[in-house]
Amino acid sequence: MTESVSNYSNEIITPSRNASNIRYAIREVTVLARQLQQAGRRILYLNIGDPNVFDFDIADDAKNAVLWALNNRKCGYAPSEGLPEALQTIERDAAQRLHFRNIVGSYTGNGGSECIDIALTSLLNPGDNVLLPSPTYPIYASILTRLGIEARYYRLDESDGWQPDTAHIESLTDAHTRAIVVINPNNPTGAVYGRDVLMRIIDIANRHNLLIMCDEIYERLVLDDSKKHISMASLSDDACIVTFNGLGKTYLAPGIRIGWAVLTGPKKRMEAYYETICHMLRARLCASHPFQYAIKPCLEGSQSHLPGLLEKLRRRRDLCMSKIAAIPGLSCQAPQGSFYALVRVEGIQNDAEWCKSLLMSKGVVVVPGSGFELYSSDAGYFRIVLLPDENTLAEAFDKIAEFVQETKR
Ligand SMILES: Cc1ncc(COP(=O)(O)O)c(C=O)c1O
Repeated sequence: MTESVSNYSNEIITPSRNASNIRYAIREVTVLARQLQQAGRRILYLNIGDPNVFDFDIADDAKNAVLWALNNRKCGYAPSEGLPEALQTIERDAAQRLHFRNIVGSYTGNGGSECIDIALTSLLNPGDNVLLPSPTYPIYASILTRLGIEARYYRLDESDGWQPDTAHIESLTDAHTRAIVVINPNNPTGAVYGRDVLMRIIDIANRHNLLIMCDEIYERLVLDDSKKHISMASLSDDACIVTFNGLGKTYLAPGIRIGWAVLTGPKKRMEAYYETICHMLRARLCASHPFQYAIKPCLEGSQSHLPGLLEKLRRRRDLCMSKIAAIPGLSCQAPQGSFYALVRVEGIQNDAEWCKSLLMSKGVVVVPGSGFELYSSDAGYFRIVLLPDENTLAEAFDKIAEFVQETKR
């Protein structure tokens, strides 16, 4: 026995190149932070968009529905596309509140993340490319890396409040481009897009036969009364669109992992794609069954937690903006939605190194702009979350101000 074992290969099991190339800066920055914390350092986390880590608790409608489901034998497998009552609610909400036109179908997933993964995987073949915003929410880039698909980055224009640069989108599109991703309200910039820019993107997509993937996971989290969220699927009968949404952010429970997608557009153009999505959904069984019972009460509930949530976010946003304005070399386009802000630091070459030094010297965790595929020759960027309480934010920005002062050339 021992002899035959010694004849076995000693070669290491090599991991997948695609998987090894995946980066996810939002969580990767916490590795060093945790080590410092274990060594006794006080660490201020401004990196993760998880309300439960801060002073926000799951909305009552979500909590009660989940408890009911757990107590009522709803822990078996659910239908692969999603719980029928949840899908009906999602489509009714999309049609009535968000004015979606031409709904072709919908599905639920384990978070918006799984819905995005299934939508991309069901669409793409080797040689295709997909247009992503720069900066982007990193999951899109991660999934494309895993699939071995080229991502082409279109500019979000900081000088225009981070609105998409549609001329750049047009210039990147070729015969192999299959889809364009639009994140609105945006992570990481906090921008909320206007009707004109959305119409221009729809026009490009229609002329080049592109699927639009519209991520509206922060659609209810618009901070300014003067701004209104507009769903792309409400703007056109012709465009082929998959819209992503979910419970995690709006109902303050990202760990219950419930998201969904709604497909809209001309049925003839969308039905083969939707059938492939359903095929993929069956291959992975189902989204978490008990937690899908939270969809109906959340979407149809009073939304009574929202005014308080938005008010807190507004106050925290305003505090951050006034702190940033007082630090020389830092600037920020005030976020209008979601709960993030992207801060510009003049004159730094390597924002990942800058963020690492900030963490080492001041114990403040932020995510470098390069983690969102944002690169600039004359500035660096970092993203903060607006979720920590005001004392924590004020303390973090005081430490950032010290760091900027100490590292001034
Ligand atoms: C723009 C955007 N899309 C999707 C997701 C993923 O959402 P979920 O937690 O539902 O998977 C996030 C999470 O931060 C996000 O910011």
